[in-house]
Amino acid sequence: MAAQIIDGKTIARSARRQVRDKVLERVANGRRRPGLAVILVGSDPASEIYVGKKLEACNKAGIISRERYLDNTLSEAALMAEIDALNDDPTIDGILVQLPLPEHIGSNAVLERIRPDKDVDGFHPYNVGRLAQRAPTLSACTPLGVIRMLESIDETFYGRRAVVVGASNIIGRPMAMELLLKGATITVCHKFTRDLASEVARAEILVVGVGKAGLIRGEWIAPGATVIDVGMNRLDDGRLVGDVEFDAAAERAAWITPVPGGVGPMTVAMLMDNTLRATELREQDVAPAANAS
Ligand code: GUN
Repeated sequence: MAAQIIDGKTIARSARRQVRDKVLERVANGRRRPGLAVILVGSDPASEIYVGKKLEACNKAGIISRERYLDNTLSEAALMAEIDALNDDPTIDGILVQLPLPEHIGSNAVLERIRPDKDVDGFHPYNVGRLAQRAPTLSACTPLGVIRMLESIDETFYGRRAVVVGASNIIGRPMAMELLLKGATITVCHKFTRDLASEVARAEILVVGVGKAGLIRGEWIAPGATVIDVGMNRLDDGRLVGDVEFDAAAERAAWITPVPGGVGPMTVAMLMDNTLRATELREQDVAPAANAS
C-alpha cells in the first residue's frame, strides 16, 4: 500500500477535546453548558447507533443532551410541535432530527421548522444559503469534517481539481460548496454523469458519498490523489466498507480515509463543534438586545 491513512478517529478525538476544553472554560467563567436536543422518530437500527454515538460524544464534551425517541406512527404535526417547543427552549442551543424520517413525514418541512440558529446539522435553507454566499454560519457536519481532515494533511486547496461523487443535500452539495469556498476547482458527479471513470481520474482531491460499495474502482484513482470516502455500506458478510475499493485505491493514492474510522467520527465531532458554535453565536445575537433594555 502506497497511500498514507488519514485517521479520522484521532483527528476527531482532538477536535472533540478542543470542544470539551472550551466548554470547561465556559463553565469556569460561570456560563452554562451548551444543550443539544436529538430527535429520533422510529427504530431504524443504523439511526439508533448514530444517535447513540452523538449522545455519547455530548457526554464526553460536557454538552447537555436531551434525547427524544418518538414512535414511528407520530404525525408530522406532533413532530412540528416537538420542534417548536425546543425552538423556544433557551437551554437548548442545537436541535437535530435524525434522518431518514418515516415516509409520511416531509423531511424538508421538518428541517425548515428548526430555527436556523439552532440548526446544528446545517440543513436549513438559510444555512445552506449562507454557505452558498460565502458567509457560512452553521454548516453541514460531514463536509465540515472532510475539510478538517484535508487541513490535517496540509491540503492547500487553491486551484486544486476536486471531484465530488454524489450530489445529495447532506453530503455532495454542501461538500462542493465547502471545497469551492476553499478555492478548489470543483466537479460534481451524480447518477447522470456519463463517464464517471474519467471524471474520477482527473481528481487531485476525490470525495465520494453515494452509499454503494465498490462504486469507485481502485484503478480509476490518479496517482498521488487524496481520497476521502464518506460511504458506509454493510456487506452481506457483515463487513462495513466505503464506496471506494480501498486496497486497490490505496496502491495509487497518496492519502486515503479508511471505513470505518475515517469520516464517520468526524461527523460526530463537527456536531459537537457546531453545537458550541450555535451557543456562542446565539449569545452574540442576544447580547445587543439585552444591553439595549
Ligand atoms: N442521517 C445520516 N446522516 C445524518 C446527519 O448528518 N444528520 C442527520 N440529522 N441525520 C442523518
